Amino acid sequence: MTVDLEPLKREAAEAAIEAEVRSGMVLGLGTGSTAAWLLEGLARRLSDGTLSELAGVPTSERTAQRCRELGIPLIGLERRPILDLAIDGADEIAPDLSLIKGLGGSHLREKVVARSAERFVVAADETKLVSRLGERAPVPVEVIPFARPLCERLLAADGWRPVLRGDGDGPWITDEGNLILDCRRDDWGGDPAGLAAGLHEIPGVVEHGLFLGMAAAAYVACADGVRVLQAGVDAG
Ligand code: A5P
Repeated sequence: MTVDLEPLKREAAEAAIEAEVRSGMVLGLGTGSTAAWLLEGLARRLSDGTLSELAGVPTSERTAQRCRELGIPLIGLERRPILDLAIDGADEIAPDLSLIKGLGGSHLREKVVARSAERFVVAADETKLVSRLGERAPVPVEVIPFARPLCERLLAADGWRPVLRGDGDGPWITDEGNLILDCRRDDWGGDPAGLAAGLHEIPGVVEHGLFLGMAAAAYVACADGVRVLQAGVDAG
């Protein structure tokens, strides 16, 4: 039986808005189905006057398009290089709030936006909780097309199993015109930071979906309500 997770995604996004967003903020706006609820919630509050004078930096063309449809004002990082807050979804959330992101293909801009923000939080349904990274999701690695053969070879030599992400007939192309290699491995050696550093050593890798030490909080909607996990506090 397929469980409809949309109500939980919406609940998580709403909880994050209520707790984190104030009028006048410049926000980083994430990508994905949970972030879509975030945009709905922000637009509703802008139109009923609960919030005012918000502006957002979108993490993808998809999010930018939805903001235009909903009337959420957009701004660029060149005008506001430091954001008050970034809110996004996540594909895996470990107890220390390290994350895997990028199954939606936007982790490059998402990481740029998250690092541009004074505070970065995620909203997700409970299926995203894992006891350790890599339990379910692959790590998306964005590579420039020219470097794909080298990246695939060096990733495999480092113990990853890279699979080119497809999009119907051809490869998935990111907003920056790059490819994504979804990478799994059997042994993480308990050292995601070491693996992340290794990924950055491969020429042609633009960015990977490991978000380590970045999230300050996670709003996780569970069947019995929203849990707020704080960085540095044992999420149990
Ligand atoms: C987009 O590139 C991703 O990082 C998303 O934030 C992530 O895939 C979560 O998406 P959902 O909210 O759709 O699960």
